[in-house]
Amino acid sequence: MSDSATALVAEGTVDNGRRTWIAITCGVGAVGGIATAVPFVSTFSPSERAKAAGAPVQVDISALKPGEKLTVEWRGKPVWILRRTPEQLESLKKTESQVADPNSDRTQYPTPDYAKNVHRSIKPEFFVGVGICSHLGCSPSDKFQTGAQPSLPDDWQGGFLCPCHGSTFDIAGRVFKNKPAPDNLEVPPHMYLSDAVLLIGEDKKA
Ligand code: FES
Repeated sequence: MSDSATALVAEGTVDNGRRTWIAITCGVGAVGGIATAVPFVSTFSPSERAKAAGAPVQVDISALKPGEKLTVEWRGKPVWILRRTPEQLESLKKTESQVADPNSDRTQYPTPDYAKNVHRSIKPEFFVGVGICSHLGCSPSDKFQTGAQPSLPDDWQGGFLCPCHGSTFDIAGRVFKNKPAPDNLEVPPHMYLSDAVLLIGEDKKA
């Protein structure tokens, strides 16, 4: 991957109910910090904008705390980066038998090999997924609180609820059985450039 192909535009929010951060990062071959704002894409030429729209996005995840979720935009899609707590990771054992495709074998949205595991991620702690329901494209809502609550089962372990037709996903984006959504949430190609920096949209060096 050359620097010139690394134009990035990322807009993200971290919202854990206590605070919201807005992050805008943009540049060529640059790594944007969560609170960094640099020249925006509107200053690009049309060809630069087209390249930026399809380019991988670099995200600084160093400030993300356990239980927090960051949303960035990649190719017009919301991509979630959730730093899971030990309890959330533990919940995946409980949901294993309740989800429709526990090993991410279905191929409509192929899961990269490095995420074909119970936590559906490279590092167990960090879930990286496209926040678009595999049914008709709504964006599911965070439902991290466990236990009984409206539209969710009494033994809810935390995950995501699609408000459109009620599909539910566990904290690894695995769809529960007998829901309208046919597939797990998509895991986009991604890789770590360092412990602090994630690259979304590309998973191997050119
Ligand atoms: S769009 Fe998500 S359940 Fe229909």
